[in-house]
Amino acid sequence: MRVPDLAVMKKAGQKIVMLTAYDASFAAQADAAGVDIVLVGDSLGNVIQGHGSTLPVTVDDMVYHTAAVARGLQHTLLLADLPFMADRSPQHGLDAAARLMSEGGAAMVKVEGAGPTCDVIAALSAHRVPVSAHLGLTPQSVHALGGYRVQGREQAAGERLFEDARRVAEAGAQMLVLECVPSELATRISEDLAIPVIGIGAGAGCDGQVLVVYDLLGISRGRVPRFSKNFLIGRDSVRAAMEAYVDDVRSGSFPTAEHGW
Ligand code: KIV
Repeated sequence: MRVPDLAVMKKAGQKIVMLTAYDASFAAQADAAGVDIVLVGDSLGNVIQGHGSTLPVTVDDMVYHTAAVARGLQHTLLLADLPFMADRSPQHGLDAAARLMSEGGAAMVKVEGAGPTCDVIAALSAHRVPVSAHLGLTPQSVHALGGYRVQGREQAAGERLFEDARRVAEAGAQMLVLECVPSELATRISEDLAIPVIGIGAGAGCDGQVLVVYDLLGISRGRVPRFSKNFLIGRDSVRAAMEAYVDDVRSGSFPTAEHGW
């Protein structure tokens, strides 16, 4: 799986399956299960480090986990998050992306937000760094957003999100992750953009889906997010749970209306 395959899959109407991983063993299971993209998410701040948000995660943390995941992968595309404030200027973004790619082995990096982040996206793509944008509920902005809430529900907020999606694509993003966005709006954005849109709590109309691997296995601490599903129920291995997730996303059986808004 390579970056240009993402556009090919979107054109062919083939759903893209993405899953987080933070170490070589889980990465190898995801690879063997046929996952298209493994995301080393800064959600590792929550699920690995036990923090209440992603804000404490550093570039060093991301490089360490990305390099570990890279050692577990053979076929799957490796995407890594730029953590909080690593994208505070185009130069910071370039420096962090350089480390994630050269030391960590990532093929693509992900940044949250639009606005000034568009300049970071433009700088990265000008330097031939494939970028995924991330809009909707952007966990690095949890304090500015006032909590982990569905975004784009009201008409004006929905239109702003729609325009932001166009802006990040115009800036050079080659993929967009939409988190906790009403399904109808996410479908409209997916149909409007030429780049693939990967949803998490954004309905079945997106071009692909992503889940946090510990949610998929039902071992995340705290409240289970409405958009997740425990795929280990009724199965006897991590690999079987991941394969079921891959099959369900590809066939359109996951997510259903109960996983969205
Ligand atoms: O950090 C992460 O795991 C993410 C996904 C929830 C999309 O950004």
